[in-house]
Amino acid sequence: MDEPANIRLFVALPVPAPVSERLQALPRKGLDAHWTAADDLHITLRFLGEVQPGLLPAIGEALAKVRRPAFHVEMQGLGTFSGRRPVLWAAVQSTRKLTALAGDINEVLAPLGFEMPNKPFRPHITLARLQQPKGLESWISRHEKSVSASWQAVAFGLYRSAEPDERRNRYTRLAAIPLLP
Ligand code: 2AM
Repeated sequence: MDEPANIRLFVALPVPAPVSERLQALPRKGLDAHWTAADDLHITLRFLGEVQPGLLPAIGEALAKVRRPAFHVEMQGLGTFSGRRPVLWAAVQSTRKLTALAGDINEVLAPLGFEMPNKPFRPHITLARLQQPKGLESWISRHEKSVSASWQAVAFGLYRSAEPDERRNRYTRLAAIPLLP
């Protein structure tokens, strides 16, 4: 019998609706880009890649072992990852509590075969993937100051990433793990 197809997973903090609505309201004129749907905006804590569906229960159990308190998230300013298709993101402050949460997630997943990441954690919210960098710098200088918000993170989630189709959302939350009050 055929093996079930792998699924693409990541662990993330959701962006609360009032903040994602504000990010979505940023003017889009001047950029040739594919914008992230408001409901899909998130801060990736750990990207797992393509995973066998049979591992899902163990991943859920491992993540449920994470015990960290709720904490304050600060979003401020814009940044980019350069490349053939540059990525535009909202910057998230790399606070001790946020980094500790990402570290614990990595630790509980390591026994399942997910090796510790070899790149430093750079928290961000991907707003758009650009077709080409034209206009990006001036767009950032025009809108940088309006990207500012803070909120209390009370839970993180395990998400599945699907190929974009006519459905609005690209990402589906499979599990929500509360942070401690
Ligand atoms: P991003 O946060 O920079 O957009 C689902 O694809 C999520 O996993 C996105 O948030 C995406 O990054 C992240 N992601 C996708 N591929 C990745 C990779 N190879 N390494 C790290 N994160 C990745």
